[in-house]
Amino acid sequence: MTQDELKALVGRAALQQVVPGSVVGVGTGSTVNHFIDALAGMKGQIAGAVSSSEQSTRRLQALGIEVLDSNRVERIPVYVDGADEIDGRGFMIKGGGGALTREKIVADLAERFVCIVDASKQVAVLGAFGLPVEVIPMAAAQVSRRLAALGARVVPREGFVTDNGGHVLMAHGLAIDDPLALECRINQWPGVITVGLFAQHKATLCLLGTPQGVQTLHY
Ligand code: 5RP
Repeated sequence: MTQDELKALVGRAALQQVVPGSVVGVGTGSTVNHFIDALAGMKGQIAGAVSSSEQSTRRLQALGIEVLDSNRVERIPVYVDGADEIDGRGFMIKGGGGALTREKIVADLAERFVCIVDASKQVAVLGAFGLPVEVIPMAAAQVSRRLAALGARVVPREGFVTDNGGHVLMAHGLAIDDPLALECRINQWPGVITVGLFAQHKATLCLLGTPQGVQTLHY
């Protein structure tokens, strides 16, 4: 099976996690696009979606799924999103698509984070993908220096502006053995909007797409 077929497999499998009658939290990315397409088949059974990006909002609305303002939703049972890496504890690196801030906001509204990934995203130690950090533009140089002091090789995503007007720095070469501590540390730096470590908001379960089928991993 191709990587995209594995993404489609878990995107469809995530439908079983949706609570009928509820609002669904929707992430961003190519794997989530498969979930959104599948969700359209049960749009009459949900109360709408809270979206984590303009990209997902456009896709949801094109398929006739109502997108609700996150400020009008207090709690959602399930948030479905992909990841760039997930470790054996459910800690993730996210933000390869640049939507990390809104993804974390929607994840914070959710009781359960359902991570949908193909098996290539499963890692023993987070970091090989690179760690995205969204910053307020005037802080980019200082945050880059701080990341470099941790041992990272920092590459700004040239010409990319997030849905929030932020810039994204990619920190390469970090072997992240304590994701919770690193997330807390980077969160403290002035000008950081969001770090793409999802440790405080880790996965509750992961639907892992493998050539043998979907594996369900609980954390
Ligand atoms: C976007 C994300 C995505 O979930 C992550 O990049 C995985 O994307 P894909 O499903 O396209 O492989 O965090 O900000």
